[in-house]
Amino acid sequence: MPIPQLLVLFGSQTGTAQDVSERLGREARRRRLTCRVQALDSYPVGLQLKSPRFLFFFYCVTFGEYSFPCTSENFWRFIFRKSLPSTSLCQMDFAVLGLGDSSYAKYNFVAKKLHRRLLQLGGSALLPPCLGDDQHELGPDAAIDPWLRDLWVRVLELYPVPQGLTVIPAGVPLPSKFTLHFLQETPSTCSEEQRVASPDSQGPPSELQPFFAPMVSNRRVTGPLHFQDVRLIEFDITGSGISFVAGDVVLIQPSNSAAHIQQFCQVLGLNPDQSFLLQPRESGVPCPSRLPQPCSIWQLVSQYLDITSVPRRSFFELLACLSVHELERKKLLEFSSAQGQEELYEYCNRPRRTILEVLYDFPHTAGTIPPDYLLDLIPPIRPRAFSIASSLLAHPSRLQILMAVVQYQTRLKEPRRGLCTSWLASLDPGQVGPVQVPLWVRPGGLAFPKTPNTPVIMVGPGTGVAPFRAAIQERVAQGRTGNILFFGCRWQDQDFYWEEEWRGLERKGYLTLVTAFSREQEQKVYVQHRLREVGPLVWELLDHQGAYFYLAGNAKNMPADISEALISIFQEEGGLSSPDAAAYLARLQRALRFQTETWA
Ligand code: 2AM
Repeated sequence: MPIPQLLVLFGSQTGTAQDVSERLGREARRRRLTCRVQALDSYPVGLQLKSPRFLFFFYCVTFGEYSFPCTSENFWRFIFRKSLPSTSLCQMDFAVLGLGDSSYAKYNFVAKKLHRRLLQLGGSALLPPCLGDDQHELGPDAAIDPWLRDLWVRVLELYPVPQGLTVIPAGVPLPSKFTLHFLQETPSTCSEEQRVASPDSQGPPSELQPFFAPMVSNRRVTGPLHFQDVRLIEFDITGSGISFVAGDVVLIQPSNSAAHIQQFCQVLGLNPDQSFLLQPRESGVPCPSRLPQPCSIWQLVSQYLDITSVPRRSFFELLACLSVHELERKKLLEFSSAQGQEELYEYCNRPRRTILEVLYDFPHTAGTIPPDYLLDLIPPIRPRAFSIASSLLAHPSRLQILMAVVQYQTRLKEPRRGLCTSWLASLDPGQVGPVQVPLWVRPGGLAFPKTPNTPVIMVGPGTGVAPFRAAIQERVAQGRTGNILFFGCRWQDQDFYWEEEWRGLERKGYLTLVTAFSREQEQKVYVQHRLREVGPLVWELLDHQGAYFYLAGNAKNMPADISEALISIFQEEGGLSSPDAAAYLARLQRALRFQTETWA
């Protein structure tokens, strides 16, 4: 019997799906199966799906309530095509693993829907779909662990380990994915911040070929008394081929700080100036395009290894395999076991302990990690998305973002800092000289009406106002009125972004601005309170003038509060019953006349 090829496809915007997929891949290799792990959006759908003998596992993530992961649209379009014959997948064994959040109404619906569709196309399900839940106190692993156990039993029944071989036990490391061939000669520029130059390319910049945009300015826009450091950052995109419209987002690829790189090299005993050639162990596996060849340890750590992310369980699994220190190995094995997950959560996830900090807690192990394993052990730094806050029609060749520097305290002494926002904040060209930031643009979740006379109601408290600044600038440049903005902040004189600009547009008749300053009176006043106050206007705009309604900002309670306010307006002003008002909102949403972009 030919050895089955396992293909693990993941659709994801976060690292969780990739991490679980990689874990599936490693467990498959322990069972002597050949395995490829690939992102859905880089998988050429079509031909391969017809191949027999393949085992497919899809790992998909349900974001929000209604959308498919936007990173893998081609795949979804293909698989749900009506013309696909019902025998398309009749030779295929598959299993679907979903990650969702049970606080959303349509919990894990992507996984469920995909499972049904694959059955419809003739595939054989190895197991019912696994529904991982982010809300579970142990995270999605609580469902994934037992599901994987059952899965491997099923797989080994169908595809037993070939005679003469055994399953490679969990404590033994698998070969690393790459090898690092250290070079004798060290190029003199190695420890400097050096990036791979974009090769000449067709088309606009992308993740594979970002544009290195000069930062023009980086200005704090919150007053000195405000708790948050919020920055307005402007990039020059002249000659980049980048173009965007209101609602689009910019992706920024951050780097680690020099201090963290030095600490990392120290605890691992690595020379940051040493350069190496990276070589995949298996043919057909590409090297990360972001890394130059030859590459220095400094560049690898600076641009690629996400050393300040919170380590996942797979990190502890591999570290335990690599550890030669008895006590440390024992603890690491505990953290990687199913029984150790609660303790691991308390040690790592709850206080948001970083990979770097964990390595300092296991110094003997850290000091003996073979460099070949660095890319297996530590996930790559992911790009971060920001709503674009300017319009090319108002600021040609410029791209602006409004960004709150992420910093918070846990029980650990050192404050936790967001990698990308801290990195960007540290790059003020006024202080450190010329700065270039790798970035590219993609469509975001908000799209504004093309029809000239359609009014838009925008609710954007705090930095949620960013995409609406782009929309208002764009619409004003096109001569469109009917722009209604609800903006909320704490204090008029501390965090009222773009006050002058809004006032100017109000005077010219382009904007109706409604503000909610939450802390300027005893009772909190939020945007939803203001919305209710002007309920008749909101109803008139939505029901009689076909207005579009937008909401952006912090995901915590605000979106639910706004929906609730709208539903009560529909009841009071439109005379609808409570279920009819909820159905009215759902209809607006389906017609894309109620759109949201929220972030954690
Ligand atoms: P607060 O911080 O005083 O509670 C931007 O962050 C603004 O949004 C602040 O004025 C903040 O008020 C407010 N805000 C906090 N929670 C909110 C919610 N659930 N709905 C609307 N606005 C909220």
